[in-house]
Amino acid sequence: MQYIHPLFMLVLLAAVIHIHRLGKQALAVNLKSPEADQQEFLLQQHKKLSTLITALVFVGLLGGVMVLVKFLQVQEIFLRSYGHGFAGAILLGLLIANIYVGQAIKKPRKQKAQDNVKSFHFYLFYFSLAVALYSVISGIVVLVKGPASL
Ligand code: HEM
Ligand code: HEM
Repeated sequence: MQYIHPLFMLVLLAAVIHIHRLGKQALAVNLKSPEADQQEFLLQQHKKLSTLITALVFVGLLGGVMVLVKFLQVQEIFLRSYGHGFAGAILLGLLIANIYVGQAIKKPRKQKAQDNVKSFHFYLFYFSLAVALYSVISGIVVLVKGPASL
């Protein structure tokens, strides 16, 4: 039972990488070529997938807490997983924030301002990856060593 959450979350993290790939593909479309409308399609996929995966990360976070309490008999949630629970909550927050930042890219009228929001969108993603890496490492530590003592 305690392996369900880690496996589910690893699939979701792979999907987050795929969201990044869709964004990069959208950027690479040549707007003067006949395939220009591909960009709109890729961005729609990018948006749909980011909303879906973020919702599933929330479900997975609740699942992690449930397994911890019910099957690993830990009552003190977030405090006995080497920061893993906090990292997961921060990751969820970053994904939610980036959905809003992504949608804000086109809002300013000046190109320079749009470029700034876009860079922020990318940096937020790289920061999410760093937090995700910590969540994987701390998750493996919980699996190998068991919950931390208080
Ligand atoms: C999207 C990333 C993830 C989120 C949001 C997340 C969230 C959580 C949360 C909130 C808990 C409860 C811990 C506590 O309350 O102290 C938990 C437990 C746990 N997580 Fe994660 N987690 C994520 C990814 C992973 C990964 C990648 C692994 C392993 C490689 C993992 C392994 C575990 C383990 C072993 C537990 C203890 C309970 C169980 O076995 O299900 N998690 N997780
Ligand atoms: C480095 C990784 C990423 C790249 C390269 C990328 C790229 C892009 C691009 C080029 C746009 C279109 C901006 C425009 O309208 O001109 C966009 C929009 C958007 N992005 Fe990302 N993105 C990345 C990560 C993410 C992540 C992690 C999320 C959310 C979890 C996300 C959610 C969105 C959303 C919701 C939009 C708005 C789409 C729309 O309204 O059409 N992106 N992204």
